[in-house]
Amino acid sequence: MHKRKLILTGFMAAGKSATARALSSRLGWRLIDSDRIISARAGKSIAAIFAEDGEARFRKLEREVIREIAQDRRRCPQCGEPMPAIVAAGGGALVDDNNYRALAAAGVIIGLTADPSVIAARVAGSREVRPKLSASGKPLLQAITELMEQRREAYAKAAATIDTSSLSVRQGAERALEEFVARA
Ligand code: S3P
Repeated sequence: MHKRKLILTGFMAAGKSATARALSSRLGWRLIDSDRIISARAGKSIAAIFAEDGEARFRKLEREVIREIAQDRRRCPQCGEPMPAIVAAGGGALVDDNNYRALAAAGVIIGLTADPSVIAARVAGSREVRPKLSASGKPLLQAITELMEQRREAYAKAAATIDTSSLSVRQGAERALEEFVARA
């Protein structure tokens, strides 16, 4: 197993964070969340970075953080093997080919997706502010459908894609692990 990181990405509210947490606690692997690192580094929420500094600034921070995550070469102090990890990368990360290449070299990229109507229901029921959708000024379902379509090629670069529309978090995590093991 030389590709040690299981990298989850895919459209907003497709289940990345919950799946990443479930996998991390099930396997006891470190959880690395790119948005959390970006937010900690900037000292503000992702929504505040978008609102105050603009998307270009967010994408620059995202590129830096993803490069660092991909270059992480931590090894197990006991056995000397590279440490495995679960990585949750933001929904727009793969759009930048530099991010894709860095992540693909570091691990297996598993994309999560869901029907636009399921995404819309999850976004509407969540308190998290998602600037790529809320700032578009379009009705939610339309904003989701259009952005998904724009990003179709980027998401297709994932080694495998799992539709979580009718899966529980546990089922999604199980599927992600199967896809990882088959490719790692
Ligand atoms: C984004 C997705 C967000 C976050 C930022 C931009 C995107 O992450 O990185 O708001 O462009 O799709 P989640 O997918 O975890 O919500």
